[in-house]
Amino acid sequence: MIRITLLASALIFAVLVAGTSLAATQAAQHEMSAHRHPEAEKITNPVAADATSIATGQTIFAKQCSSCHGDKGTGDGMMGEDLDPKPANLTDAEWKHGSSDGEIFTVLRDGVKGTGMKSFSKKLTVHQIWDVINYVRSIGPSKSH
Ligand code: HEC
Repeated sequence: MIRITLLASALIFAVLVAGTSLAATQAAQHEMSAHRHPEAEKITNPVAADATSIATGQTIFAKQCSSCHGDKGTGDGMMGEDLDPKPANLTDAEWKHGSSDGEIFTVLRDGVKGTGMKSFSKKLTVHQIWDVINYVRSIGPSKSH
């Protein structure tokens, strides 16, 4: 009886470990290569990218983002030095998680699992998230796809 219980526990353990490593592999793949999020792409930006929104976004960026992404958004902030993967350069044309407003919104709202990029849904209002996106868009390539 004890042997059967032990065997059952070992089996459950093995299944758990296999499940965890599968999730880890999937997360690692997500981290590695550029990809798109078609569902997120459908979210449209309700906040006009006018001077007020961009200026508000710049203030938020300096406070919440520049420590990792750098003062100019080039990904060279002090806090990002030890991170793997490194904070993204937000001024170049390479967008790992897609460059549409909706995709950037999803990154900020949900964070990127398994990376230093955490969710800002508790720190920023939805409107503030759009302001910071309007700012990021103003320093990066203007194309939205
Ligand atoms: C603690 C460090 C840290 C902070 C603070 C931080 N980020 Fe990030 N960010 C990261 C890392 C690390 C990545 C790379 C994630 C990856 O490679 O998948 C990232 C990725 C991103 C991406 C995805 C870029 C792409 O190529 O698709 C965007 C957009 C972004 N951050 C914007 C912001 C904004 C805006 C803020 C402030 C509201 C912010 N981040 C704050 C560390 C940070």
